[in-house]
Amino acid sequence: MSAPDLQRGQPPVLLQAEQVTRIYQLGRDVQVPALRGVSFEVDRGEHVAIVGSSGSGKSTLLNLLGALDRPTSGHVRYHGRDVREMSDTELARLRNASIGFVFQSFQLLPRLTAVDNVILPLVYRPGSPRQRRELALEALAQVGLADRVDHRPGELSGGQQQRVAIARALVTEPSLVLADEPTGNLDSRTGEEVMALLETLHADQGTALVVITHEREIAQRASRRIELRDGVIVDEVVA
Ligand SMILES: Nc1ncnc2c1ncn2[C@@H]1O[C@H](COP(=O)(O)OP(=O)(O)OP(=O)(O)O)[C@@H](O)[C@H]1O
Ligand SMILES: [Mg+2]
Repeated sequence: MSAPDLQRGQPPVLLQAEQVTRIYQLGRDVQVPALRGVSFEVDRGEHVAIVGSSGSGKSTLLNLLGALDRPTSGHVRYHGRDVREMSDTELARLRNASIGFVFQSFQLLPRLTAVDNVILPLVYRPGSPRQRRELALEALAQVGLADRVDHRPGELSGGQQQRVAIARALVTEPSLVLADEPTGNLDSRTGEEVMALLETLHADQGTALVVITHEREIAQRASRRIELRDGVIVDEVVA
């Protein structure tokens, strides 16, 4: 499921959500239906934007697509394989090696330097610690942070922290990057730079990119736009 299997002859569908629901249980009596039957597919190398107002279920959906959470009913499949049927080890591997995550709040570990944050997802990668460090340094150079590798997150600007998060997402050469409002905490110019970086890496490495955004301009650059409202898809636009 890594970059090398992005080859001809492989089926185009990377990821499938079929009639996915997610009902959060609050206490004993209250149920919050965050997703109420969502179906769509993401092809290899595709760029999809997910839009919708606050509370419409976007982050809930992204967490399910990233196998960080399980649906209440319905199916999420990678390469046709249902996430429900995967063992904990397989799930951890899928999340670590095949999916890169980028969040609005960066979610870097504050005590670790930039390079040590980027090394984290390489845990399953064979090779020596030194080789992993080399890969992390390369990824940081790719996002323009070769001169900040020993800084901790608190010693970096917001845009630089998000670039570390992007390096961490891409260091495993995942087949999918999931980004939840990646520019939400950045000023518009820095946000623009971060999006341009994600889009370049998507184009160069053939990584599928699914991005949640409130910004119309960012959504318009995707090849497909899905709009959620109250936990269902109300619109799907192909560019
Ligand atoms: N852990 C939870 N427990 C209970 N309800 C939740 C939980 N997480 C989300 N919800 C509810 O599920 C619905 C969808 O939430 P979600 O975070 O997916 O929305 P969103 O579209 O990402 O919104 P935003 O644009 O504000 O980030 C909301 O009504 C929210 O209150
Ligand atoms: Mg959200």
